[in-house]
Formats: sequence, structure tokens, C-alpha cells
Amino acid sequence: MGLKILSTGRALPKTIISNHRLSAMMDTSDEWIVARTGIRCRHIVSGDEDLTSLAVTAAKAAIEKAALDVSDIDMIICATMSGDYVFPSLACCVAEALGALRPAFDINAACSGFVYALEVANQFISTGRAKNILIVCAEMMSRFCDWTDRSTCVLFGDGAAACVVGEGDAIKYLNLTADGHTRLLYQEAGSGNSPFCPKKEPGFLKMSGQDVFKFAVSKIGQEIDRALRTLGLSPDDIDLYILHQANKRIIDSARARLNQPEEKFPVNIDRYGNTSEATIPILLDELLEAGRIKKGTKLLISAFGAGMTTGTCVMIWE
Ligand code: UT7
Repeated sequence: MGLKILSTGRALPKTIISNHRLSAMMDTSDEWIVARTGIRCRHIVSGDEDLTSLAVTAAKAAIEKAALDVSDIDMIICATMSGDYVFPSLACCVAEALGALRPAFDINAACSGFVYALEVANQFISTGRAKNILIVCAEMMSRFCDWTDRSTCVLFGDGAAACVVGEGDAIKYLNLTADGHTRLLYQEAGSGNSPFCPKKEPGFLKMSGQDVFKFAVSKIGQEIDRALRTLGLSPDDIDLYILHQANKRIIDSARARLNQPEEKFPVNIDRYGNTSEATIPILLDELLEAGRIKKGTKLLISAFGAGMTTGTCVMIWE
């Protein structure tokens, strides 16, 4: 016995920043951002909002939709890099706010975090160590961005999504990778005021955009092929391809390669930008709400992120 997703929920910060607003702040334009990425606006944490409250809102929505009580949750896994504290984990903050005093921990697989979290949850559920697990993918990318660097800050947004997973047999395939290319996309930690190390200030997010783009196009292609081949499926057999929302051109390239219609590759990057590991569960929540995912819908989920990591999963919705 593996798992199935029982329910999902999402939460976005209230402040929406359009490309036009960014063009008033730096040398960029709506035309450039839309043409190169497909992004039109993003939600950004502001004022007294924080990541914990977004994560908790998404979590409460998912628990309510699953018709479960907080006491039914056996474990909380957060996929995040940007919790409000370095420690304790965001998962512990969510557990405290929910009153769900259960094992709680974060994982960091960057933008592949949702699929990594699914696999971790799958192991606990398959072995009978947990029955219902709350997964929360929450990211405040605006903490990491250099807001004077137009080549990166226009790409990202903040957001959270959660799902409750329980016993089921929805996952037909799941593969995780990490290939050792750690310098394509990274952010350095500083040395604090340790007297034992050379002084190093914490950095901002750094990205070799074109290299990440090439990695994504080729690796996501390979990982999708591997999933289809392993299951003996053709691209036509998949109902929806739910890909990490990092750049609409990366999604379009996967779609063209597989010769599939546009409606099989849903996008929301235009409204949210890249919210890292939250992109896929936010999209799942929207598709479920719109009735586009039903019992029997065959989904191929694929993500890539810093590391460089990938996570690919084929699921038949139960
Ligand atoms: O979750 C994983 C995260 N990351 C990704 O998936 C990112 C993957 N990479 C990409 O999406 C693309 O490489 C970018 C969107 C980051 C960049 O697009 P590109 O088509 O690769 O552009 P480029 O880096 O080759 O830059 C082309 C031009 C440059 O000007 P020059 O040298 O040709 O004069 C840049 O300086 O565009 C310029 N540019 C901008 N212009 C206006 C870079 N950023 C901007 C900007 N506005 N925001």
C-alpha cells in the first residue's frame, strides 16, 4: 500500500506585484518578462505577513477539505528553504499553530521539494508508520532575491500549498535525482561573526539562467521519457502534465517534444511566477477546484530545482 492525495489547499500573499510595477523599479519591461518567461505578476509577502501564516492557512484548507481533524494528522513535512526561522523548522511552527503536536520536519530539495516530500511520505505510509501526513510546500523567494538584479528577481514569487496524503495506490511511478551541479543555482550562507572563519556575508540568490534553462529542457525531457518508458505508456496516455512553473518556455518545449495539446500542460506561472516547490501543489489545488482532476485522471508531475534535483511522478487520481 502506498499513498493517495486526499485533499489540497493553497495560500498566496495579498500583495500582487505586476511586471509594470517592477519596470518602475528597475530596467525591465512587461514585454521582456512576458516574452521570456510567461510571467505577468507574482504575489509577494509584505507588511506583517509571514511564511508560517501562509503555510498554516494552506494546511488548514487541506485538512478541512479532507474532512479530517488536526488530531488525525500523524506527521507534518514541510518542503521549504525559507522558513521564518533557520531553526526550528517551518514544520514545527506549523505544528505549533495547528496544535498538531506530531513529528514535524522540513526537507530542502529546492523546487523539486513537492515530489521529494511525496516520496518521504510514501515511505512512512507504506511501512505503516503513519496513516495521514500533512505536506506543506511554502516558499518566500522574495527573501532570497537581490531586488536590484533584474535577471533573477522578476522570476520569483511567494506562496504556499498543502496536501493531506493517506493510504492509497495512486502513485504508479516516482523517481528522484540529484546530479551534483550545485553552482548553477545557489545562495551562500554567511559565516556569522565566527572568529574562526574568514568573514563571509550571506549572499543573494545566484543563477546561471541559460544553464538552468538548458538543464531543465533536457533533463525534464529525459525524466518524462523514463517515466513513460518504465510504465509502457505513450505521451497520449497522460491526461495532464503538471510541470514545475519556472518558465513558460520550458513547459512549451516539453509539450512540443511530446507533441501534445496545450490544454494538457496547465500553467499558472503568469499569475504567480516561480514559487519554487509550491508551484506544483498550487496548480494541483487550482485544477481540483476547477474540476479538471477527477478519479482516474492520469497525471505526470515533474519538477527540477537547485542541486540540480529533479522529481518525477506518475499518479492516477483516486
Ligand atoms: O526553479 C528553477 C529556476 N530557474 C529557472 O528555471 C530559470 C531558467 N532560465 C530562464 O528562465 C531564462 O534563462 C531567463 C528567463 C532567466 C533569462 O532568459 P534568457 O532568454 O536566457 O535571457 P538572457 O539571460 O540570455 O538575457 C538576454 C538579455 C540580456 O541582455 P543583452 O546581454 O542581450 O543585452 C540580459 O541582460 O536580456 C537581458 N535581461 C533583461 N532585460 C529586461 C535579463 N533580464 C532582464 C529583464 N528585463 N528582467
